[in-house]
Amino acid sequence: MLLTNISRLVTIESGVIEDAALEMDEGKILWFGESSDAPRNREKFDCGGAVVTPGLIDCHTHLVHAGSREKEYAERAAGKSYLEIAREGGGILSTVNATRAASAQTLYDEALLRLNEAMRLGVTTIEIKSGYGLDVETELKMFSVIHTLHVEAPVTIVPTFLAHIVPEEFRQNRGAYIKLLCETLLPKLGQMGFVKFCDCFVEEEAFTKEEAAEILEAGNRYGMLSKLHVDQLNAGEGAEFAASKHAVSADHLENISSIGMEALKTSGTVAVLLPGASFFLGAKPAPARQLLSAGVPVALATDYNPGTNPCLNLMLTATMGVSLLKMTVEEVWRAITLNAAKALNLEKTKGSIAVGKDADLVLWNAPDEIYPLYAYGRNCVSEVFIKGAPLLYKEGAGGGRP
Ligand code: NIG
Ligand code: FE
Repeated sequence: MLLTNISRLVTIESGVIEDAALEMDEGKILWFGESSDAPRNREKFDCGGAVVTPGLIDCHTHLVHAGSREKEYAERAAGKSYLEIAREGGGILSTVNATRAASAQTLYDEALLRLNEAMRLGVTTIEIKSGYGLDVETELKMFSVIHTLHVEAPVTIVPTFLAHIVPEEFRQNRGAYIKLLCETLLPKLGQMGFVKFCDCFVEEEAFTKEEAAEILEAGNRYGMLSKLHVDQLNAGEGAEFAASKHAVSADHLENISSIGMEALKTSGTVAVLLPGASFFLGAKPAPARQLLSAGVPVALATDYNPGTNPCLNLMLTATMGVSLLKMTVEEVWRAITLNAAKALNLEKTKGSIAVGKDADLVLWNAPDEIYPLYAYGRNCVSEVFIKGAPLLYKEGAGGGRP
C-alpha cells in the first residue's frame, strides 16, 4: 500500500520531507520519498495532507492495576507528601491490595480500555511493568494479563518485571523477600520467556542499591535486561548505579547529579524522563537540558500509574518536555520515538521512518509537527498504522487545524 498526500513526513533520522509518499509492504516500510518519485500502480491510501511521524513509543508505564487513588491526590493538595502517604499504608500498597483482590478478567478489561486510549493517542509501542502484586501469584496474574493484551491488541507490548517495594508481610525480613524474587519468581518468569526487562525502584521506601543489584543480577541470569527507577524522590547516586549495572535505561532522575550524568553518558544508558509524574506531584522536573548537554540520550514517557500520573497522553507529556524541561521540538520528537525505542532496545526495528523498519505511523490532523505539541491536551491524531494496518480507518482526514 502507498500512503499519498503527506504534507510533511517527519523521519526523525533523515529530516522532514515535504509533499511525500510512503510505501509499506508486509508491515514494513519499503520506500519513502517525494510524491513525484513514488512508485505507481499501488493500492493508495490518501492521507489528506496529514503530517506523518513514526508511531509514538511510551517506554515506561504501569498500565495494569486495579483501583484508583484520587483521595491521595486531594491529601497531597492539602499538604501531605507522597512518602508520608506511603508510610501510612497508602500509596503503592493500596494499589497492591486492590490488584491482589481483582480477578485477571477485571485487570484485563480495565487495562484494555487504557490501551485503546493510548492507541487512539498515537501510541504504537508500549512498555508495561508489573510490580503491583508483590507476591508470586499476583505478579504471575499481572503477566498473564499483559500476555493476553500482547496476543490480542495490535500495539507492540514490552513486558517488564518491576521490583517495586517490599510487601508488608516481609518488612521484618527483607532478605527473605529478595530470595523469593531471585529464586522463585524470576526463574518462573524466565521460563515464560516473555518478560524482556527487570526493573527495580531504588528509593528510601523501596529498595537499596545492594538489594537492587541482587535482583537485577537474577533478572540477567533469566534473560532479562536491566532498567531502574532511580534518583526520583531523593538524590541517591542512582544514575551512577544504573550505569555500573549497564542498565538499558535509567528512569525518573529528578535528583540526578552531574557525576551521574557523566556516568550515563559513558555507559550509553538512556535517560527516561517522566515530566507527567513530576508535574502531577508538583515536584521539580528532571534536568533535561543538562542531560542533553552532557550527551546523554533522553527519552520521554508517561509513567502512567494510579498514584503519580494517571494520564496516558504521551503527546501532552511531550508538551511538558518543551514547556517544563525546555527541550526543543526536535529533541522532544526524538524523545518519544527513536530514543524511546532505544530505551526498549528496539531501535533496529522501531522509532524512525527508515526502510525495513516496522510501518508504525501516526497521521496528524495538523499543519506541521509543532502543532500537536502546541495544541496541548487536544488529540490531533487522525489515523494510526501499526505494522502497516490502519487502526481507525479515517482516510483523507489529515491536515489543517482540528
Ligand atoms: O514510577 N516510582 C515508583 N513507582 C511509580 C509510582 C507508583 C505508585 O505510586 O503507584 C512511579 O512513579
Ligand atoms: Fe514508574
